[in-house]
Amino acid sequence: MHVTFPALMAVATLASRAAAVDVGLMVDQNCAGVAVFCTGVNPNTCCADGRDFWGAKLQYIPKEWNLELRAHRRDSSLCGPIVEIGESRGSVAMCRPSASKQVTGSGYSFRNWKREDEVAETVGADTNGPCQRPDLLRLGDGTEYNLTELSDEQYNEVLEVSIADGGVTNEVPEYMAKYRH
Ligand SMILES: *[C@@H]1O[C@H](CO)[C@@H](O)[C@H](O)[C@H]1NC(C)=O
Repeated sequence: MHVTFPALMAVATLASRAAAVDVGLMVDQNCAGVAVFCTGVNPNTCCADGRDFWGAKLQYIPKEWNLELRAHRRDSSLCGPIVEIGESRGSVAMCRPSASKQVTGSGYSFRNWKREDEVAETVGADTNGPCQRPDLLRLGDGTEYNLTELSDEQYNEVLEVSIADGGVTNEVPEYMAKYRH
């Protein structure tokens, strides 16, 4: 088989972009509000920190991919029963808010591009593995901060500032300045 150079480039681009998909959790009821993300995680990774959130989010989705986003509530796991579900279908970002603050985990998986009513078989894909703490904070104004190096205490403080303000704040503790993107 003859594979052209542009074809190889396209595959490489898709692969590198896929690794950058961020799956996250809504601190605010509004999709444009504060959210935290687990960056570059594999499909079916559970993104959770033990709190209750308003919904699930995805960002930096490659347009060429159709991803399923799932918001879960708690049972024995933080990624228990699915409460909201949706497909990206060419969007680069999406959110799935819930009617109540009951979402404890989020995850995604790959879907094909067939009509939605034909692909129900992948619904409920397993996200019950170990959970990952979010490593990115995104504020309502689009500013992003890397949460990777925060202690649990600092992480909790950063989240509490956002939660206390209803998830619409653009404030973070001063020590966050060096983690700004
Ligand atoms: C966040 O910081 C960690 C370590 O400091 C780094 O490995 C990671 O790539 C950063 N993440 C992003 C999305 O920049």
